[in-house]
Amino acid sequence: MTKASHKTIFVCQNCGRESPKWLGRCPNCQEWNTFVETVIRAEPTPRTLPQGSPPQELSKLASNQLPRLVLPVTEFNRVLGGGIVPGSLALIGGDPGIGKSTLLLQIAAAVAKETGAVVYVSGEESINQIKLRADRLGITGEGLYLLTETDIEVIIDRLRELSPKLAVIDSIQTVYLGELGSPPGSLAQLRECTMQLMRLAKASDTSIFITGHVTKEGAIAGPRVIEHIVDVVLYIEGESFSSYRLLRSAKNRFGSTNEIGLFEMRGQGLVEVDNPSQVLLSERARGAIGSAVVPTLEGTRPLLVEIQALTSTTSFGLPRRTANGIDLGRLLMLTAVLTKRAGLALSNQDIIVNVIGGLKISEPAADLAIALAIASSFRDIEVDPDIIAIGEVGLSGELRTVPQIERRLSEGARLGFRRCLLPRAAQGGITAPPGTELIGVSSLRDAIRVAISKAKRHEGKGFEQQARST
Ligand SMILES: Nc1ncnc2c1ncn2[C@@H]1O[C@H](COP(=O)(O)OP(=O)(O)OP(=O)(O)O)[C@@H](O)[C@H]1O
Ligand SMILES: [Mg+2]
Ligand SMILES: [Zn+2]
Repeated sequence: MTKASHKTIFVCQNCGRESPKWLGRCPNCQEWNTFVETVIRAEPTPRTLPQGSPPQELSKLASNQLPRLVLPVTEFNRVLGGGIVPGSLALIGGDPGIGKSTLLLQIAAAVAKETGAVVYVSGEESINQIKLRADRLGITGEGLYLLTETDIEVIIDRLRELSPKLAVIDSIQTVYLGELGSPPGSLAQLRECTMQLMRLAKASDTSIFITGHVTKEGAIAGPRVIEHIVDVVLYIEGESFSSYRLLRSAKNRFGSTNEIGLFEMRGQGLVEVDNPSQVLLSERARGAIGSAVVPTLEGTRPLLVEIQALTSTTSFGLPRRTANGIDLGRLLMLTAVLTKRAGLALSNQDIIVNVIGGLKISEPAADLAIALAIASSFRDIEVDPDIIAIGEVGLSGELRTVPQIERRLSEGARLGFRRCLLPRAAQGGITAPPGTELIGVSSLRDAIRVAISKAKRHEGKGFEQQARST
């Protein structure tokens, strides 16, 4: 390529900041050594949507909505907001080896079986490798076409010829547009290839899934830019030592982003988990100190989630607060309320809060459980193991009601929790599931008194011993 006919600029591979000259450190995202020389194409970048039509009055438009492709994988449908929207472009991100190719091969096979042709393009694995994986997953593959190709122009031509219902590009970091000159995976390539695929999807009603691996910082390698272009961003998350995988939506132009799907990685692939609450609580030690359970409602289904806290006296300097899975600001607020309104001397305590299972909770309904976990660790007394806690904590230590309490209660009852601590104001209009005792409390102080007390602990132990001896 003759450099003379092209202008080059330098682009931060982390955030997309452009600069006419090379910079050691990005002034935008503060990362070091992220600038890469990039050729700018002479003609302006093509847009992602078809151009040239006059403005049209909304009320005159006929709605020709195609039905979503509903998959036999319920957890996946849920996260997508009810199936795959025709002509949409979705990005599936995740750590290397987390199971992106596995999930997409399973989805591809399911769509090919139920709806129509699917093309699976791999730039990472040979046809033979994919065949071996398919055998292991029990996929025969009628209607599923495999293509190993990394040149985006060839890929697009093939997809135009076949016009499949669904195409999978595994991964976006391996495909490239020849004329750009920069290496596959660089920001310019990612952006350009994604836009080409977007245009194809919109023009043809082919839905496209692209995979992308995530860097250690947690962003899809380098580029936030492709998140802006695509319609849907899903992440597969999970700890490397655990076989459970969480599918979470970070962006969805066709549905809520609160939904999560839970899968287990097995030999035959990713299998849906039927009873996520049970799985999430499976490793909970009964009567553990610093642990409380909340029925959260992120998305459309209630999930029982364990929250753990650990407090320890600060040994040097300022006390540290660490929040995994909840907002740090929320933790600081709850710590302040516990100190001022419930009389817990936390100002010289390091506090760590963890949401088990790698979940993230953003709803205030979990406040009470977080506060109880902290109080339990600080007092070194367990939270009554039969209790689930629901409620938002206000700045004066009052408990405030939260939406959809009955659905949360029935999830708790289903998994055998017999008592529920909830805001007194909410107690009135609620019918408790049979066998569940509702304990309405109006302040955090009262809640702690009910859920965490020495007497209760001993009573509880006695009860357990009785139960064991019978
Ligand atoms: N024979 C097997 N039995 C059970 N699980 C397996 C087997 N082979 C692979 N796996 C699981 O599949 C995972 C790899 O999945 P997959 O290749 O779909 O991940 P990926 O996200 O596409 O990875 P990459 O980023 O390398 O493309 C492994 O980490 C392992 O957990
Ligand atoms: Mg892969
Ligand atoms: Zn940057």
